[in-house]
Amino acid sequence: MQYGHFDAKAREYVIDRPDTPAPWANYLGSPAYGAIISNNAGGYSFVKSGAAGRLIRYRFNEQDRPGRYIYLRDDESGDYWSASWQPVGKPLGEYKSVCRHGTGYTLLEAEYKDIRSEACYYVPHEADYEVWRVKLSNKGKMARKISAFGFVEFTCESFYEQDQVNLQYTQFITRTYFKDKFILQTINENCLNAVNESRVETRFFGLARADVASYCGDRARFLGDYHDYGNPVSIEKGKLDGTLNYNMNPCGALQTSFDLAPGASVEFAFLMGQKREQQAKELIARYEDAALPDREIGELKTYWHEKLDNLKIDTPDENFNHMVNTWNAYQCFITFNWSRAASLIYCGQRNGFGYRDTVQDIQGIIHLDPEMALDKIKLMVSGQLFNGGALALVKYDHNPGHEEKPENMTRRWGGGGPMYRADDALWLFPTVWKYVGETGNTAILDEVILYADEGQDTLFDHLKKAIDFSLNHLGVHGLPAGLHADWNDCLRLGANGVSVFVAMQLYYAFEIMIRLAKYKKDAATEKQMEELKTRFGKIIEECCWNTDRFVRGITENDEVVGKPGDPEASMWLNPQSWAVISGYAGEERGKAILDLVHKELNTKYGARLMAPSYRKHAFDGALALLFNPSTKENGAIFLQTQGWLILAEALLGRGGRALEYYLESCPAAQNGIAEIRLLEPYVYSQFTESSDSPFEGRSHVHWLTGTASTVMVGCVEGILGFRPDIEGLRLSPAFPASWKSISIEKVFRGSKLNIKVNNPDGRESGCKKLTVNGKAVEGNYIPASILQKENEIVLEM
Ligand code: GLC
Repeated sequence: MQYGHFDAKAREYVIDRPDTPAPWANYLGSPAYGAIISNNAGGYSFVKSGAAGRLIRYRFNEQDRPGRYIYLRDDESGDYWSASWQPVGKPLGEYKSVCRHGTGYTLLEAEYKDIRSEACYYVPHEADYEVWRVKLSNKGKMARKISAFGFVEFTCESFYEQDQVNLQYTQFITRTYFKDKFILQTINENCLNAVNESRVETRFFGLARADVASYCGDRARFLGDYHDYGNPVSIEKGKLDGTLNYNMNPCGALQTSFDLAPGASVEFAFLMGQKREQQAKELIARYEDAALPDREIGELKTYWHEKLDNLKIDTPDENFNHMVNTWNAYQCFITFNWSRAASLIYCGQRNGFGYRDTVQDIQGIIHLDPEMALDKIKLMVSGQLFNGGALALVKYDHNPGHEEKPENMTRRWGGGGPMYRADDALWLFPTVWKYVGETGNTAILDEVILYADEGQDTLFDHLKKAIDFSLNHLGVHGLPAGLHADWNDCLRLGANGVSVFVAMQLYYAFEIMIRLAKYKKDAATEKQMEELKTRFGKIIEECCWNTDRFVRGITENDEVVGKPGDPEASMWLNPQSWAVISGYAGEERGKAILDLVHKELNTKYGARLMAPSYRKHAFDGALALLFNPSTKENGAIFLQTQGWLILAEALLGRGGRALEYYLESCPAAQNGIAEIRLLEPYVYSQFTESSDSPFEGRSHVHWLTGTASTVMVGCVEGILGFRPDIEGLRLSPAFPASWKSISIEKVFRGSKLNIKVNNPDGRESGCKKLTVNGKAVEGNYIPASILQKENEIVLEM
């Protein structure tokens, strides 16, 4: 079933029926002020942090309520509806609506009984408040009397958890006032003139370009006893009763009323944010300027579209184009900004940047905005500890040089050790490599950056320390220990059990260090890394290969995880894809193991993380057993890993397979099966239930997932074959034999590349000839030094 379509030109996803099988959401704002809004206006806002800056209530795991509601009412008949289909939910035969989710804004258009409404929700660029611009038009032949009511349910306090659970406190610290054009909410107001002014917070909900006909600041009075958001008593009555809250639950509700002649329309705006009274007054005054919202929405489009335009592709597959050009890219910026903090599933409690998550998320935007990536790289490097490991979470108030060492923290893992993950700092290698390749900025390697706990080093030495950490945490057979977890949160291999995935990561890290050391003419490091690579290569061969596959790990009791014939979890995806990505497997063995992956793990929705799922034969550290079979780490299609598989297939030159995996799990390609997938067809999710589940194909955990960046890398570096290094750019596209040609426009180190890849012989990869501005170059490599401002590049496969 289909609920919407892509509008590629406008870079919008257009939902043309509102009864979607889940709330289909969008993100507004920036790290300064974040807002999530669904196609039915459900969602919430927060200042900086979903955990500590929550402004609007949202009831998780319920019916997508409440939200930013605009109720409309015919004041003659008393009939009322909402500018979003829900919460009033008029019959869909009579109520027509379209939701346009765009880059940084969401437009809800509706028509009911000849009244057309357009509500555009956005956070102006770099602002810390939000705007709901409303237009109402009378499309009928009769004059109408129409009221519009804006409604928002404030939290009682900015700490989400306090607001939800500590009611004996939070219900008694807030009150609302009416101030001519807005409702002002205060929190801990007495502190304003007393000892602790810093505790005072004020928020407002205001109306610009229209008069307030009535107001209410008390949620109970707005809704009425035994009424709900779908039928508030005050909307039924047609007037807000002027109650302001003193204790209990605040809200902001404002009514404005119009006479609408046939063909006439009106425009006004609701505004809200965390502002003091005077600031609120000034903001509302600014929005008396009728042209301002259009200008601001235009600015948002320009800001986002310019970023996204740094890579534009045109291939024979529309879904691939939609995702790479707009939606996957946009999602990468969202995960980059908000990590795993706040969505309609994540309640906002992760108050910072998960180490491994964010270092990977950065990879998703490097090809579009390397400058933005650099700041975050530096932040994450400063989350590394002096011993080379990393903090699990780099908090929003991260204080490099002063953070506590995991050894001193009270939280410990099962084995009693400090909660180090084995993989965290190793993600820096591909991320730094991609950044240096994209920009050519090698000076960054010499930049001195603090460690989280003590000391400082150049970035290059930080990387060496990351390797030291692995070398100082070896388990059985001298392979990297799995510690509290490796990438897989559900594998606790401990201080002596080993992770083959991390062994591959480390092998790759040696390779990247060799390249960097060569560039820096640091012969000693180069030699050391070569030796380590050879030494570990041998141990991997001896201990990690079994019959026809790489195993997943070895437990502290020397039990091998993931060998053929095991009753459960006998085949794992990541060690195979990473054996290829790291360069360890080589071409022939790489192809063989990926063929086995295809045979044993692939399904119509993508390849499973492992199979068979755990039920009875899990070892002690296999936490995946907690989940139902075919769910999450217990044998689901864990979507982040599809990106690595796509990349691995493309690195082997098998473009057909790469695209096959791509399309199996591509949201856009599942636009027509929304009743199975449930989630937004323009957004990646964390996982899809696989074949052991009665709901095979159902997907979960939208928006904030490593899938976005990993798949993006699989597309950019893999399928499109964009593989820059320090001196230039290797072009190695790999796509299906049936594609005759593709074009790519890319901004690279300030130059514009117009690339055409022709495939007259129906190949899947390879390069017969490459010309740059009419001149042939050797192999498939373009030295950065020959690039001009604008370049015509033609590659024949
Ligand atoms: C979740 C976590 C991520 C982890 C993955 C696999 O996506 O956010 O850190 O790597 O699960 O367990």
